[in-house]
Amino acid sequence: MNNVRVGIVGIGVIGTAHAYTIYENNATGLSLSALCDIDTKCIERLKGEFKDVPVFTDYKKMIKSGLIDAVIIATPHYLHPVIAEFAFKNKLHVLSEKPICVYTLSMKKAFKAHKKSGKLYATMLNQRTNKLFMLAKEMVDRGDIGSLIKNRYVITNWYRTQEYYDSGNWRGTWRGEGGGVLTNQAPHNLDIWQYICGMPVSLKAQCFEGKYHSIEVEDEAIIYAQYENGATGEFITSTGIQNGVNSFEIQGDKGKITIEKGKLILEKDGQATSFDDEEYNGHLNILKNFANAILHGEKLIAPASESVNQVIISNGAYLSSWKNQQIDINFSEKEYYRFLKKKIAGSKPKEKQNNEDLHTKEYKRKWTTNW
Ligand SMILES: NC(=O)c1ccc[n+]([C@@H]2O[C@H](COP(=O)([O-])OP(=O)(O)OC[C@H]3O[C@@H](n4cnc5c(N)ncnc54)[C@H](O)[C@@H]3O)[C@@H](O)[C@H]2O)c1
Repeated sequence: MNNVRVGIVGIGVIGTAHAYTIYENNATGLSLSALCDIDTKCIERLKGEFKDVPVFTDYKKMIKSGLIDAVIIATPHYLHPVIAEFAFKNKLHVLSEKPICVYTLSMKKAFKAHKKSGKLYATMLNQRTNKLFMLAKEMVDRGDIGSLIKNRYVITNWYRTQEYYDSGNWRGTWRGEGGGVLTNQAPHNLDIWQYICGMPVSLKAQCFEGKYHSIEVEDEAIIYAQYENGATGEFITSTGIQNGVNSFEIQGDKGKITIEKGKLILEKDGQATSFDDEEYNGHLNILKNFANAILHGEKLIAPASESVNQVIISNGAYLSSWKNQQIDINFSEKEYYRFLKKKIAGSKPKEKQNNEDLHTKEYKRKWTTNW
């Protein structure tokens, strides 16, 4: 095989951007071979815009069509592990949008099918390809700042308007989205947090539901984390602050890393060394890595086995907030799902809104690392 034939499920805002990237031959090694959506208006748009590409209305038919080797899943979150499981059972590779799932219990079947299939399971955690985060990861892993003592990640620049939440009937609801800023915007940062600082052993969180917007889910969250070596951490995020920041401090017993305003500063041995960020296209980097992993055995940048960690943290944070308790990271997934089901039962269906103007070729600046 010298080209991976890709089908995309869910051609909304991000699915359209991925479709164009592949259709215009920018993701070397991938060819756009099928598209799938259930929305009638969307299907008409696709037939006009991607003329020679077969369009399906049922992802199962697309997966079984024999036209594709791999599937990109860009539907609302709850469907991610469901479609992945079906794709693995039909021997396809999978690249799932983030979050890989809404609740970790829903990964059991997808992981089982993945293991049996021998195929690749990647995720679109595009911020893993940001130069400064990669550099920080290398420095921490090499022990440049010694043992970690304390970290603080404030990522409050995910500002979203009420119009954004109103642009889709699934957005901002427990039934359709299964969470707020921790489930939709901050998965990238929760992943970077655990990628660099490791998984906490316990956490205590406060999630503020509908604080800034008329939505059911949280638009602000604060997580306090404890690590095995006694280190502590804080993670603060929000979609309600117009002049938010992206600021990450990692304190070790031999030095400190600060990442802020497009700069990484390493303070060590009485000296400060500074590194600047570079323009990058994280989505394209992940698409190319997916192709190279299938075709040439390249290591996946964001394998599913690691991507689930950010969902463990977000599920733990919700549970902690709902129970008003410190939560061990090995909390009961079944208990979490019981709480989530109650939220879903109380969730109100929303009218479908028109979000056509959000479908563009380009990856939006807000989906990448903003300083
Ligand atoms: N990695 C990133 O930077 C990034 C950016 C934006 C969105 N996302 C993720 O992508 C996913 C989609 O987000 P969006 O903003 O594009 O949403 P969207 O609502 O614009 O698009 C979702 C599309 O899925 C379709 N769909 C729903 N059920 C389907 C089914 N059963 N079969 C086929 N199609 C179906 C809808 O009709 C819609 O066109 C979310 O999980 C989101 O978190 C990731």
